[in-house]
Order: sequence, then C-alpha cells, then structure tokens
Amino acid sequence: LGEPSVGPLNGKQLEFLDHVRQSSDALRALIDDILDLASIDAGAMALDLGEVDVRATLEAVGEAVRDLLAERQVSLHIDAPAEIGAFTADRRRVRQILFNLLSNAIAVSPPQGVVTLSARRAEGALSVEVRDQGPGIAGEIAGKVFERFETHGAGAERGGVGLGLSLVRSFMELHGGSVSLGTAEGGGALAVCRFPLAAARRDEAAE
Ligand SMILES: Nc1ncnc2c1ncn2[C@@H]1O[C@H](COP(=O)(O)OP(=O)(O)O)[C@@H](O)[C@H]1O
Ligand SMILES: [Mg+2]
Repeated sequence: LGEPSVGPLNGKQLEFLDHVRQSSDALRALIDDILDLASIDAGAMALDLGEVDVRATLEAVGEAVRDLLAERQVSLHIDAPAEIGAFTADRRRVRQILFNLLSNAIAVSPPQGVVTLSARRAEGALSVEVRDQGPGIAGEIAGKVFERFETHGAGAERGGVGLGLSLVRSFMELHGGSVSLGTAEGGGALAVCRFPLAAARRDEAAE
C-alpha cells in the first residue's frame, strides 16, 4: 500500500498503515518466540555454531534497535576493546539474546537516557553486558523475571507477554553459559551474559 503505484496515501492513511505494520511486526515476533520455546521444550533446538565476530555482532544489534532508540530518544553506547575478536556461538541466537535485553533496557529508559552494550573477555569467558538508567529490578520480581509470562511495569504496559527473558535464559544455557539481571550500582538494571569460551570449543571438537 505504501508503494507509489497504488496512488498517494494521505497522512491519516499513512499513519494507519504504520500501525498495521507495527502490529504485524509485533505478532510476528511473538509467534517466533512461541515457536522457539516450543522447540526448546521438545529438545529440538540445536545451535548453529560458528565464529562470531563480537564487535560486528554488537553493531548489528545496535542497528536492529535503531527505531526503538529513536522512538524513545534513548542513545546506545557500544563499548568493546578493538582486539576483542570472535568467539564460537550461534550468531542468530546471540543477536536474539542481545536484542531482547536491549529492547527491555530501552523500554525502561528515561527520555535522553543512555543504554550501554559492552563486551570483554574475562576468566575464560566472554561477558556481554547491557546496562540502563531505568528503575532497576525491584526486589519482589528479581527471582521471577526469567520465568515465562512474567511481565511487570514498563514491560506489561507496552504489551509485553513476558517471554523475552525466558528465551534469553534458554539460549544462554544452550551455549553452556548463564545470564543474570539485577540492579547495578548507582541504579538502573545490569544484565550480564557469560559465554564460556572453553565449553564452546569442547562442543566444536565433539562435532
Ligand atoms: N532492564 C530492565 N529494567 C527493569 N525491569 C526489567 C528490565 N528487563 C526486564 N525487566 C522486567 O522483567 C520482566 C520480564 O521481561 P521479559 O521476559 O523481556 O518480558 P516483557 O518484556 O514481555 O515484559 C519485564 O516485564 C520487566 O518487569
Ligand atoms: Mg522483553
């Protein structure tokens, strides 16, 4: 409909078209999440392991959340050492993990807030962190955020169904890693994904 060949649309029509597009994107994302959870439950989720360039991945995810950032006037800082290199992982799933964490971080950010996406190597692992300037993780939900259909506050208000973090946890576990989410020093939430480098190499050797 947005094609010029259909004839020009007026402003109101373009606005409606935008709503239709946004709701179909949201439905598509929800269906994808549910299908992923179904294959995880069936034990049928296999990782497609390969060499994943860390900086390129962070930048690709930053690009994927560009509209979300603009909509909420939030800026993203990507912070990784130039020599961080690559690690063994499923590129698509790593992006999905970081996209979920970033979209939560952006959703809770105050206007003009800053979200930081950073990576570093430490103690045999690659750790990737997402930090925001939102309210942090309230004590009463801290133990539950990774459970399915747990959605609160900003998440629930924007119509989240509470599946994002449960997928993040499953994908991290499939990588032999772990994820934590808590309140950072100075407020705001801090999510830490830890990809063990040795475990990923063992899997590769076993193939
Ligand atoms: N960065 C964050 N800051 C504060 N609360 C968060 C953050 N990320 C997640 N949460 C809380 O965890 C809940 C579950 O997150 P998620 O599984 O992604 O579901 P959804 O985004 O659909 O609500 C959110 O509804 C929100 O209450
Ligand atoms: Mg979410």
